[in-house]
Amino acid sequence: MGIGETMEAPKDICNLLLAWYAENKRDLPWRKNPDPYSTWISEMMLQQTRVETVIPYYYRFLERFPTVSVLANADEEEVLTAWKGLGYYSRARNLHLAAKIVQEKYQCVFPNSYQALRLLPGIGDYSAGAILSIAFNQPFPAVDGNVLRVISRVICLEGDISEAAVKKKIRQIVSDLIPEGRAGEFTQALMELGAILCLPQNPLCADCPIRVYCLADKNGRQDCIPVRRQSRPPANLDYWVAVVRKDNDILMQYREHTGLLGRMWGLPMAVKNPVVKPEKEFADQLGLNLQKVKSLGNTKHVFTHQVWNMEAIELMPEESRNDLPQGFAWIPLGKIDQIPIPKAFQKIFELGNYM
Ligand code: ADE
Repeated sequence: MGIGETMEAPKDICNLLLAWYAENKRDLPWRKNPDPYSTWISEMMLQQTRVETVIPYYYRFLERFPTVSVLANADEEEVLTAWKGLGYYSRARNLHLAAKIVQEKYQCVFPNSYQALRLLPGIGDYSAGAILSIAFNQPFPAVDGNVLRVISRVICLEGDISEAAVKKKIRQIVSDLIPEGRAGEFTQALMELGAILCLPQNPLCADCPIRVYCLADKNGRQDCIPVRRQSRPPANLDYWVAVVRKDNDILMQYREHTGLLGRMWGLPMAVKNPVVKPEKEFADQLGLNLQKVKSLGNTKHVFTHQVWNMEAIELMPEESRNDLPQGFAWIPLGKIDQIPIPKAFQKIFELGNYM
């Protein structure tokens, strides 16, 4: 039996799923009191980030910014610092911008309509559905990767889930399934099934509460579905990263631009060049005469579309000068945990045991 094969099937699927969720759901902090503000924060953090990673950030963030008005009135630097290590920093900037809009336009009352939510920075179709269903119990579908996987398996859908038409079809199926008055639980139950049983590899079908309705299982296709077009592999980039030390200070650069890791602090970087020494490359870049102290080793950081292969070089200025190029500053080592420094550069500090 698949969804819709009998008139009773959709109702039965919902009942089985909700009963399983009630018994098996993980005890996650944002499930204790799913008000709009905390649901929004958790959903923004959970995009592209694992639940276990998010939990300590979620607690710390809500302690520091307990309400939308505290968040709206905070400095962007402080919000980015609280986000440090979670990656995808545009999420933090959008959160801050959206809080300002909620404060100014809605007097700090979180909007509860799809149209209003979609106009807030960082809230797309999925997040709007998640907030409306989880925090307001409104019957909106929230289709993330977990839900795409669950539904495409249940209906044994061989289409490519990265295609908009396929996603739309799945969204419609979820929307039709939402049981009256239980939208929030249903959204979370579907996500939970995808997270703990209907796994990408080796799904635990023996424990699945809706196995009898799963056509992929019936046809032995659960290891092949969902189908997803191969995305292009990320570009591999080789960089030197300079750790220029002067007593207890480190030379850092405020990355003015709005692109990758923009408007945060980083270390000087240069594309590796086999015919130039790194101390010469950085001397030209920084207008300082530099001596190489040592190589601190290699590390890498993986972004969605790029991989940075980084060799960290510790350098020492030969003279004491303070007229640095625009955007550069000497930052005391004791202060580096108080400014927003993305993970890619934290890895360099870890290589040198600086933090
Ligand atoms: N992933 C996205 N939203 C989630 C939620 N509310 N609970 C668990 N995992 C999630």
